Amino acid sequence: MTISHTTSIKQRLEIQRLLEPTLVVSPSAGSDVVKGLTQIPKSLPPRYFYDDRGSDLFEQICELPEYYVTRTETSILQNCASDIAKITGACELVELGSGSSTKTRILLDAYTQQSLPLRYLPIDVSAGILETSAIQLLADYPSLQVHAIAGTYEFALQQIIPRRLPSRMICFLGSTLGNMNPQECDLFFSQIIDGLQVGEYFLLGVDLQKPKHLLEAAYNDSQRVTAAFNLNMLDHLNRRFEGNFDTTQFEHWAFYNESEHQIEMHLKSASSHTVELDALNLSVNFVLGETIRTEISRKFDIENLRQQLTLRGLVPQKVWTDSNNWFGLLLCQLTA
Ligand code: AVI
Repeated sequence: MTISHTTSIKQRLEIQRLLEPTLVVSPSAGSDVVKGLTQIPKSLPPRYFYDDRGSDLFEQICELPEYYVTRTETSILQNCASDIAKITGACELVELGSGSSTKTRILLDAYTQQSLPLRYLPIDVSAGILETSAIQLLADYPSLQVHAIAGTYEFALQQIIPRRLPSRMICFLGSTLGNMNPQECDLFFSQIIDGLQVGEYFLLGVDLQKPKHLLEAAYNDSQRVTAAFNLNMLDHLNRRFEGNFDTTQFEHWAFYNESEHQIEMHLKSASSHTVELDALNLSVNFVLGETIRTEISRKFDIENLRQQLTLRGLVPQKVWTDSNNWFGLLLCQLTA
């Protein structure tokens, strides 16, 4: 990279670090772990999947033959990105949980091909990933401006800076919506609405209902990467809260709950034993076969979701799916 190229990248990049009360080490840190492990049935928040190893394992999951989610969403985006750019016109892209911004490139390419001005506002909890991927994007898109925001998207949406282009589109891809229960989902939609002005857009990617065997294969892959991802949560908790979870005493268990239309991931205890988390002053007893639910991954029905969004004023203007109807991409517009 030449010096002038590097300078121009720096001029086009701003990184905003949001200090958030819940992320600062505080007496309440880990209260969600205490709550989840002292209730019956036991559960843990899925956010504890994502330490460095967990994020790396998730990237590997996205490449697995059984995990159709990423591949399918990418192919839909490839087919509809130019339509999206035509509909929104010049528009700032705000991406929630942007990670490595791989899918974003498909959108950036479509806006570039239509000579539309580009501004990208990725939001992610990891400032490191934000900076690395922003620098790469700026090198590849010479007219792109990036304003990266390090923080949780709930907090970032409250703090979002005024727009500089005629419109804005908040992108929430990868069916992360599925990891929220209906109450969390409701709260999330309110936060999206608060982050948009009337006429602005919300691009939502969701995994759709499909036969049980396909879903269960995607969360029980033959290389056991998903099992490693699930078990890694215990290593993460051990490090973070001085715990002594023994990962050999737990088994990965994932199944499709057909009445709730959700995959449930659990860690099942292989023996009766006790785990201590010293930093939380917590001692937890497990009986043989007892489980901790670590994640739900809800699978949606497009019509149902369309109605739900419309009722909130986030009206789907266009909905795209793949030829199998496995995944849906909804471009919604906030109405008054
Ligand atoms: C991030 N999220 C949408 C993934 C999912 O499919 O629910 C997380 C995941 N869990 C196991 N595999 C992938």
